[in-house]
Amino acid sequence: MIILKSQRDLELMRPACAVAGRVLDEITAFIKPGLTTRQVDEFAAARIKSHGGKSAFLGYRKYPCHTCISVNEEVVHGLAGNRELHFGDIVSVDVGVIYKGFVGDTARTVAVGGCGVLAQRLMDVTERALHEGIAAAVPGNRVTDISRAVQNYVEGNGFSVVREFVGHGVGRSMHEEPQVPNFVDPKSNQKLRPGMTLAIEPMVNAGQPGVKILKDGWTVVTQDGSLSAHFEQTVLVTESEPEILTWPEKVPSSLKVS
Ligand code: MF3
Ligand code: CO
Ligand code: CO
Repeated sequence: MIILKSQRDLELMRPACAVAGRVLDEITAFIKPGLTTRQVDEFAAARIKSHGGKSAFLGYRKYPCHTCISVNEEVVHGLAGNRELHFGDIVSVDVGVIYKGFVGDTARTVAVGGCGVLAQRLMDVTERALHEGIAAAVPGNRVTDISRAVQNYVEGNGFSVVREFVGHGVGRSMHEEPQVPNFVDPKSNQKLRPGMTLAIEPMVNAGQPGVKILKDGWTVVTQDGSLSAHFEQTVLVTESEPEILTWPEKVPSSLKVS
């Protein structure tokens, strides 16, 4: 069942998503060469707490960290630890915050100091693919229209979308129906309606789409060792334009989809 959010729900979910977006900004501004991923996760924990929130990840299916921090060939669900960030790495940070009873879920990939042209193009294409998907999140469309917009943009730029992990509805729980795949899956063809809140989150590999899970039981990496990027926003379907709940600021014109 897909849970439509009422205006009263949204009065709580908007601030929850705003906190998640703010914390993600704070973490990405903090990232620099020489930090370990554990230091980044500890910083994130402190920022989430200072905003009055709680990590939606810590303890979820026994997940052991406050955020997901995935470096280079790591796709998602990277565990914080002793790995040091180096200049030229790209790091995907995923933040889920519980606040006022609702979850905000948002992620972004950033360069550590700077990065190569392939990594930069991968990040640009992934973020742009997310916004292509968001633009398709309008009533009258179906979930497959979001999926198709993401997949076409990514594959048109020579990269590949991960199949094994997908976007999702989000609300009082982190994972609600429907699933929002980044590839056209005829099973995910639900009609979009105002009041739906969706986490749209392309995971894009520079090489082949295949992934595997490391022995830690969590970290997802590309099978071919190629770089991967991940961008995610929690989005409200409205009667008109989608509202990006985890990014209440104005979207720059460079990401506007016509
Ligand atoms: N935030 C991830 C997502 O975008 C899920 C993280 S699962 C956890 O759906 F176990 F790492 F918390
Ligand atoms: Co997420
Ligand atoms: Co998500």
